[in-house]
Amino acid sequence: MHSFIISLLAISSCTGSAAAVGVVGSPVGFAAGTTGGGSATPQYPADIAQLTAWLTDNVPRVIVLDKTFDYVGSEGTVTGAGCRPSSNTCPGHGGQDAINANNWCDASYPKISVTYDKAATQGINVGSNKSIIGEGRKGVIRGKGLRIANGARNVIVQNIHITYLNPRYIWGGDAITLAGTDLVWVDHVKISHIGRQYFVSGYAPSNRVTISNSEFDGITKWSASCDGRHYWGMLLLGSSDRITLAGNYMHHMSGRSPKVGGNTLLHAVNNLFADNTGHAFDILAGGQVVAEGNVFENVRTTLMEPVQGRVFTSLSAAMNAGCKPYLDHDCAKNLLQNSGNFNGDATAILAKFSDYDSPPALSDTAVKDSVLANAGVGKTGRRRPWRRVRTAHHSKI
Ligand SMILES: *[C@@H]1O[C@H](CO)[C@@H](O)[C@H](O)[C@H]1NC(C)=O
Repeated sequence: MHSFIISLLAISSCTGSAAAVGVVGSPVGFAAGTTGGGSATPQYPADIAQLTAWLTDNVPRVIVLDKTFDYVGSEGTVTGAGCRPSSNTCPGHGGQDAINANNWCDASYPKISVTYDKAATQGINVGSNKSIIGEGRKGVIRGKGLRIANGARNVIVQNIHITYLNPRYIWGGDAITLAGTDLVWVDHVKISHIGRQYFVSGYAPSNRVTISNSEFDGITKWSASCDGRHYWGMLLLGSSDRITLAGNYMHHMSGRSPKVGGNTLLHAVNNLFADNTGHAFDILAGGQVVAEGNVFENVRTTLMEPVQGRVFTSLSAAMNAGCKPYLDHDCAKNLLQNSGNFNGDATAILAKFSDYDSPPALSDTAVKDSVLANAGVGKTGRRRPWRRVRTAHHSKI
């Protein structure tokens, strides 16, 4: 109740004062220096047409979402070829069926007809120099994802919830897609109820990326693993990608959280991976992962074996001291609670973090509380609302 009142006051104090709305904080890690729409005057799109127009044009913009932008139905529905994959052994076939995109359906899978929402199958093509931010907990994009590709660069996505992209169907849509970009900062975003990937960096180089304080909520009625959890988490296969994952909460997943390959250098620090009935890290050839200060709680397979890429998992104090020249801190050990083994000793990849603006690493025991308090929407800049409350109070006297 208390925080509810505070946020109402914070919002009312912003009315008529556009300068109070904007990106909170600045990115750490690989996407340090991302400025998005910079100091452009914040603009509130009226409807999905205006939101799409502002996201896709060539004008630097700070776009503020203060309501749900619902794309479901906006491009009609498609009825087409699909299949029932062997994974859908759930009662009443209530798991995920598949759209036959990219000829994914194996010949052995029974063919079925699938009817799905078209808008979700293709993300909004975001242009360069954009900040997309939500107000409080109100900024929601429903039924369509974001695609930052084909050379678009310098984009901030903060404090919005992307949800409901054909969650019933594999290939129903991806929430955030990168493919040929640079400097993307995804912060305090929530993603839920997606058909395919929550986050995917395609084969084209995505260069410098930071994903921080975000919530990947895998709870679903249509589970590819038939256990209420989403399988298709993060797929990182870019040909030249450097990605920081810091302070994120990935829960109720059953796979690919994350799957890392291509030529991807990944620093995963202080994330909370919880209630995963399948696997968290799947590291293919070319995937290079430094994982420190993470908490794994009830993760069945923390690391898929055999590891084809390279991974450093903070196994000892001596190993962790080797982080300091590159990350400016001793690496923090990972905390494994009722979770599978996480063993990787690839100290040689630390040297790839030169000129890296590392986030600090909390110690393992402080991570869970911090992630639960900060990850997701409606949680940006905890001190800023207090200042706004004071302003609102004084202006009313
Ligand atoms: C984005 O901003 C940079 C730096 O100001 C500028 O060079 C570039 O042309 C901008 N891109 C677009 C599409 O406006």
